Amino acid sequence: MPQNKVTNNDLLKYMDTSDEWIQERTGIKERRFAHRTKETTTTMGVEASKIAIERAGIIPQEIDFIIFATLSPDYYFPGCGVLLQRAMKMKEIGALDVRNQCSGFVYALSIGDQFIKTGMYKNILVVGSEKHSFGLDLTTRGRNISVIFGDGAGAVVLQPTDAGPGDAPGKGILSTHLHSDGESAEILAMFNPGTHANHWTSEAVADFNKTEVADMFMSHAMIDKAQNFPNMDGPAVFKKAVVKFPEVIIEALTANGLKPSDIDMLIPHQANLRIAQFVQQKLRLRDDQVFNNIDKYGNTTAASIPIALCEAWEQGKIKEGDLVCLAAFGSGFTWGSVLLRW
Ligand code: ACO
Repeated sequence: MPQNKVTNNDLLKYMDTSDEWIQERTGIKERRFAHRTKETTTTMGVEASKIAIERAGIIPQEIDFIIFATLSPDYYFPGCGVLLQRAMKMKEIGALDVRNQCSGFVYALSIGDQFIKTGMYKNILVVGSEKHSFGLDLTTRGRNISVIFGDGAGAVVLQPTDAGPGDAPGKGILSTHLHSDGESAEILAMFNPGTHANHWTSEAVADFNKTEVADMFMSHAMIDKAQNFPNMDGPAVFKKAVVKFPEVIIEALTANGLKPSDIDMLIPHQANLRIAQFVQQKLRLRDDQVFNNIDKYGNTTAASIPIALCEAWEQGKIKEGDLVCLAAFGSGFTWGSVLLRW
């Protein structure tokens, strides 16, 4: 995590909001903002990867595939995966960027799981990292979104669990379940810069000069009208999230002949504490079966699950043999779950 803590009261410098409003609606007390120039989405991903690789007992040159999930990449292209490959002096391995926003890490794990299960790769680095602070409208105009998000990164190394002596069968990722519903793509979206030219929306979400092709991608008018920031219909996201989160968790449990009471630890994407509490209540889970840390970090999108997974493990809340469920829902809409035996 970046060192720089930004409390709810710190946000008062930028916008008309209050600690009470933010805590009541989201459960967030503070978040981290990356150093403006010294930390990027990739550098934070590198720091998380170093810890994950060391804990896996290998060196960066043993990684044979990179999957990097983010919605806030260092460059529009190329992706963060190649920047991480360069920064960590890895071999000329494949590097894939996943752009699935809040469910990015769950999608990335699912992809990695397939490569492990086919035997194609032995050490896959899966990273989730975000530097939201650069892309938020930190004024009263953007307060419904900007108070929610924070910066940070997490990473895991995926390996086969039945490859050597001491590896117990039945451990590892049991199944993954991925979904999407593009009907609501514009409900939580950042439209510009982009190639859409207002094609999908009845109202203009980008102002540009129709005679200048380059201007249609990113124009001065878009910046003047603040069309370069994310948009969110918060209540609509909330309503869908509280249905799809439990649904995809139950789907994972049912696929493995299990029930909610079998879960040792549920790590929901840290979107909003109220969503996580709703899910907990719906599945009738005890407090010790659900891990939340949104109060400290806000919503870190693709990074939230690996950050929470790491903290839960460091605090001894995930033990050998535990049934762990990861679940996410977000922009797209896309959602998914991962059920694993630790
Ligand atoms: N501070 C103070 N007032 C605010 C703020 C703020 N930061 N933001 C909005 N308000 C005001 C609004 O202007 C509005 O005022 P009005 O009634 O005078 O018009 C009022 O608060 C209520 O606004 P709503 O948007 O209806 O507030 P709501 O209670 O729905 O809470 C929130 C907003 C927190 C965004 C909620 O809808 C939510 O959590 N939705 C889920 C979205 C989410 O989790 N997104 C994360 C990304 S997606 C994902 O990760 C799943």
